[in-house]
Amino acid sequence: MPRVLITRRLPPPAAERLRAAGLTIEMVDQDEPPSRAELLARVRGCAALITMLSERVDAELLDAAGPDLRVVANYAVGFNNIDLDACRQRNVRVTNTPGVLTEATADLTWALLLAAARRVVEGDRLMRTGTWTGWQPQQLLGLELHGAVLGLIGAGRIGAAVARRAVGFGMRIVYADPRPCAELDGPLGAQRVPLAELLPQVDVLSLHVPLTPETRHLLDARALAQVKPTAILVNTSRGPVVDEGALVAALRAGRLAAAGLDVYEDEPRLAPGLAELPNVVLLPHLGSATVLTRQRMSALVADNVLAVLAGREPPNAVT
Ligand code: DGY
Repeated sequence: MPRVLITRRLPPPAAERLRAAGLTIEMVDQDEPPSRAELLARVRGCAALITMLSERVDAELLDAAGPDLRVVANYAVGFNNIDLDACRQRNVRVTNTPGVLTEATADLTWALLLAAARRVVEGDRLMRTGTWTGWQPQQLLGLELHGAVLGLIGAGRIGAAVARRAVGFGMRIVYADPRPCAELDGPLGAQRVPLAELLPQVDVLSLHVPLTPETRHLLDARALAQVKPTAILVNTSRGPVVDEGALVAALRAGRLAAAGLDVYEDEPRLAPGLAELPNVVLLPHLGSATVLTRQRMSALVADNVLAVLAGREPPNAVT
């Protein structure tokens, strides 16, 4: 019976559906990532591997799995944790979970955007520490979103969903993307501009690009210096798109008003100084973390594994 290794405790229905299809399921029965040694040992002889974004899928892991491995189904839309060439060389298909997490991630982007713009966490801290002395005309003044400019870097599914929400807030939208987006250009009334033109005009900058060699440190010290000191950065894409050290320096020096971050350069670690800054809102990579979305992702990984093992084209092929 083909074996499937699931590298973490997953919400239903992936394990149940794969088991019902007659596959032998082995699940790493914990919420934390398994150690590399455990992964290398348990992967041996598997036909399918269901991985999380925190697992490095490289030649070493693929070779440890051996020649029976036919598919790596990533439980994420991003797949920067996977060496695609190494998979291609071994005829291992790679799949992801696009579409189902778009709205949840756009919602979380807005949670961070609103929290950073209106200083929600600073206000909460004031209340919890008992240091609020009453209403003040100049206390925790934030950014007025109505009429402000939202700049999106990346206008794929999630970028467009973030933009849709911005219309209700009365924001003007600009975006930088190598390809035009019909929805943004049309009904959402956005304007596509080169990155160099976008950076100086935004009040809120939100990142929605995949992590590739081209997007690594796209927002470095030089790019951050182009942004207005009153602006807010929101990142729900991938941490390494931002040079976190440069971001800490900009926030500390008042060259950027605030940041809302869900992703980090070296997860789960934070850049020195980041957690001490009052003007950042920090979340633990929760973009897709709703009950429904995580169940839909679970259904998709099962669909993809079942398709490949049955010799069919998987619905969400990356390679
Ligand atoms: C993804 O899917 O890539 C997210 O980062 C995790 O859900």
